[in-house]
Amino acid sequence: MSKAVRYSEYGGPEVLQWVEVEEPHAAEGHVRVAVRAAGMNPFDSKVRRGGYIPGHTLPAGQGAEFAGVVDEIGEGVTDFAVGDEVLGWANTGAQAEFVVVPPSNLTRKPAELDWATASAIGLVSNTAKRAVDSLELGPSDTVLVTAAAGGVGIPTVQFARATGATVVGTASESNHEFLESLGVIPVAYGDGEVERLRAAAPSGYTAVLDNKGGDALLTALELEVAPARINTIADRATAAEHGLTTVGGGGKTAQELAEFARQVVAGELVIPVRKSYPVTEVAEAYRDLDTGHGRGKLVLTFD
Ligand SMILES: NC(=O)c1ccc[n+]([C@@H]2O[C@H](COP(=O)([O-])OP(=O)(O)OC[C@H]3O[C@@H](n4cnc5c(N)ncnc54)[C@H](OP(=O)(O)O)[C@@H]3O)[C@@H](O)[C@H]2O)c1
Repeated sequence: MSKAVRYSEYGGPEVLQWVEVEEPHAAEGHVRVAVRAAGMNPFDSKVRRGGYIPGHTLPAGQGAEFAGVVDEIGEGVTDFAVGDEVLGWANTGAQAEFVVVPPSNLTRKPAELDWATASAIGLVSNTAKRAVDSLELGPSDTVLVTAAAGGVGIPTVQFARATGATVVGTASESNHEFLESLGVIPVAYGDGEVERLRAAAPSGYTAVLDNKGGDALLTALELEVAPARINTIADRATAAEHGLTTVGGGGKTAQELAEFARQVVAGELVIPVRKSYPVTEVAEAYRDLDTGHGRGKLVLTFD
């Protein structure tokens, strides 16, 4: 037997359990990784609350990203060996003692990268890069990034800045100094937000990258940006209603993940992990995530 995060009913974090499951093994063409850390994402909570994925069944595992040590190699796998330190992604079930994936989902972990950060880089960076690229930003752009200090927001503002665009980001005051350190003009969200956004960019905005949806996106709609230059990853209903784009994560490759890891090690990309929880505290960890506030990523760790 081995252990994994599981839930047998839909609901809040209280349905999450760290339980014994049948031990998985590396089938032909697959690699088993002993997980050291697994990234957490709001997607996990959306699925866990039920009704988010048609045909989803229980009991379910969760977790789409991890870092760990290769400990079993299936027949035919030549590009990894037992003992290799890796980071990678899975469709689900990464929050477990062992995860089994094809080698194309893995890249080697640079020695300089700690386990928690390694497990938290992939999903948000992939999502942010695709969203930023979709708007073809350049030095003449002024872009608003909502939820700029969140998991996806942080790589989004950095990839947007790298195009030469001026970047304005919404966050609570406690995250403003941090956003300034990334070259972002921070604006507090909440009452009076539109006026503050206009004051932060007197010549107006040419693009919006929304990571929040709801009121944050409705506020952004008041800035008179062409709908084709407003992308949201968090509100398909408002996007459909207003003709906005919805480019999010997808098309992951090991090469891309390796490049994000390289950028983090080189200091070219900052992916802060605000807290690591032992996996035995998985419910408490998701109570923290579900607040929807805080800087950067949360991670589960495995001894
Ligand atoms: N479509 C896709 O492919 C895709 C991929 C990844 C994520 N997503 C979705 O994108 C959303 C963001 O994900 P995430 O990982 O970045 O979440 P997250 O890390 O939990 O986001 C938290 C951030 O949201 C900020 N925030 C809260 N209320 C806000 C408001 N009213 N206005 C502006 N900012 C606000 C918080 O700022 P303060 O701490 O300063 O309050 C915090 O920094 C989620 O809905 C997620 O499911 C979609």
